[in-house]
This record gives sequence, structure tokens and C-alpha cells, in this order.
Amino acid sequence: MYTSTTRASLNSHLYDAGVSHDLRHLINDIARAGKYVHNAIRTTDLGLAGSANTFGEDQLKLDVLSNTIIKEHLNESHLVHSFASEEEPGMACLQKEGMYTVVYDPLDGSSLVDANLAIGSIFGIYKKCDDMMGMKPREQVAALYLVYGPRTILVYCCGKGVHAFFLNEVGEFVELQRNLSMRDEVKTYAPGNLRAVADTPAYAKMMEIWLKEKLTLRYSGGMVPDIHHMLIKGAGIFTNIGGSKYPQGKLRLLFEAGPFAYIMEAAGGGSSDGTQSILDVVIHDMDQRTPVIIGAKKEVLRVKRVLAGEE
Ligand code: AHG
Ligand code: MN
Ligand code: MN
Repeated sequence: MYTSTTRASLNSHLYDAGVSHDLRHLINDIARAGKYVHNAIRTTDLGLAGSANTFGEDQLKLDVLSNTIIKEHLNESHLVHSFASEEEPGMACLQKEGMYTVVYDPLDGSSLVDANLAIGSIFGIYKKCDDMMGMKPREQVAALYLVYGPRTILVYCCGKGVHAFFLNEVGEFVELQRNLSMRDEVKTYAPGNLRAVADTPAYAKMMEIWLKEKLTLRYSGGMVPDIHHMLIKGAGIFTNIGGSKYPQGKLRLLFEAGPFAYIMEAAGGGSSDGTQSILDVVIHDMDQRTPVIIGAKKEVLRVKRVLAGEE
């Protein structure tokens, strides 16, 4: 079968975009780790590992393996000063002279694995630091995610454009779409932690509005494919709001909300925790949760107003 050589590879795209030498190499190394995770998803036993992560959640064998694969690649890159993973406690130092700190969720959507739905890996890249407390997701210098669905797709942003690549048949990430951008249009919605509707009346009101406006539901239960859907279509709204089970919503600021807020805002969309941009929420706990409103900018503002009881 013919393999296109006319599409830019991830590496040549990063080079042409003027991404610095070290950051280009780091992103390439993360992309390479992503290929091994892609392979692990297809070949590893899908059962439980018999262990729990620092936050007490059962780990799948795949959670543990994805974490190990990524950690090894970060170590091998010799560019990473330190990292923090959703699957490990605190921060760990890799190379003192490394320029970057990488935060990641190795496998987002663990509960979807046995159902064979799309899952992902999420990364935030910061300049090297020893302690993330007091920092903000706005300080990220790049963010990227991989979505493992019928195809494996990588989306990265180093501040300006947001660009998508797919893993081709010879194992190279090649350009799929340049400059993903969000319009102020909302035909679809992905309302997460919907159980909060029962104890958060403002969220119930927001749902009523969306139902009345006859939006199309596009919710898979995985933040990566759900937000990727919006970025590819250039429209939509995703929420994960607090309720009694998860007072601040289910999603983690450092590993999930922060990287996506960085990518979404660079694509011209918006992000909010209900009061401010997610990029400005101060990190005070590695496991910090935050309400998430993310997507088309105007709709993010409307959700914010409805949740504040202003509309
Ligand atoms: P995890 O890394 O623990 O697999 O997180 C999955 C997250 C996120 O992807 C998704 O939006 C959310 O969990 C869905 O939660 P519920 O299934 O509880 O609605
Ligand atoms: Mn996750
Ligand atoms: Mn995870």
C-alpha cells in the first residue's frame, strides 16, 4: 500500500514551526513513548494490576505499563529535569541538568479500556522546577495529548498554533491538520459529572437550557476523545462541574485540565473553573481537582454566568 511521503512528519513540522531544539526533541521523545503505549493498548492484558495509585484508585495493568513506558522515555531523552505522573506520588527528579518538567496522565479513561472505547495520554511541559506549588498552568511551555481510537492521533501546541498528526502505517506521526481553531459555535455538548445535576441546581439549569436548545450529545466518558472531538470540529462545549461526590469536579488541574486549557485557549477557545481561566488557577496540591468548562469561548462565558446564577 502506498504511504504518503508528502505529509510533513511531526519532526519536520516542529522544525519548520521554529520550536527550540530541546523542546522539539522532547516532543519527539514523548511521541515515541506514545507509539509504545499505542502498542501496549493493543497487546496487553486488560485486567487490574492489583495495586492502587496514590489517590486510592485501582490501577489497570495498562495504567502501570503506560506510566512505565512514558517514564522510561522521559528518562532516556536526557532533557527532563523532573516529572509528575497521575499514577505516582509527588515529583521525581530525572536529570539535574534537564531543562523541563513534564506532568502527565499516562492513560486517561481507564474505565473505558474493557469496553474498547477511545482513551488517551495527556502531557503538560513546564520549564524545569523543583516544586510546582504556587505555579499556574499558564506557565506551561507546551502541551500535547494522544488519542488512541480507531487511529492514534497526536495533538500538540507550543504556545501558538494547535496541530494534529496521525500515526501512519509505518509508525510515523504525519500531519493531519494544521492550526485547529475553535469557532463560537455550539452544536454539540459533552456534560461530564452529570450526577452533580442532582445537588447543583445551577448545573441542572444549564442542562435544561442545552436540552431546550436541542444540542447534540457527544460524550464518550473520556476527556481526551471528548475534547479532541471539539477541536477537530472547531465547535462544542465540555463541562465537569462539582457536586456531592466530587465537590470540585472529577478532573485534575495538573494532569488533565491544565494541559487541555492550554491547548484550547491557543486554538481560540475558552477555559474556566467558574471564575477564572483554568490557566490562572494556582496549583497547591498535586491531586487538586478543578471544575472544568472548556470549549467555544462565548459558550464558556455563558456557562460561567449560568453557574453563577447570573442568567
Ligand atoms: P482517569 O484518568 O481516572 O481514567 O479519568 C477519566 C476521567 C475523564 O477522562 C472523564 O472525562 C471522566 O473521568 C469521566 O468521569 P465519569 O465516568 O465519572 O463521568
Ligand atoms: Mn485521567
Ligand atoms: Mn489516568
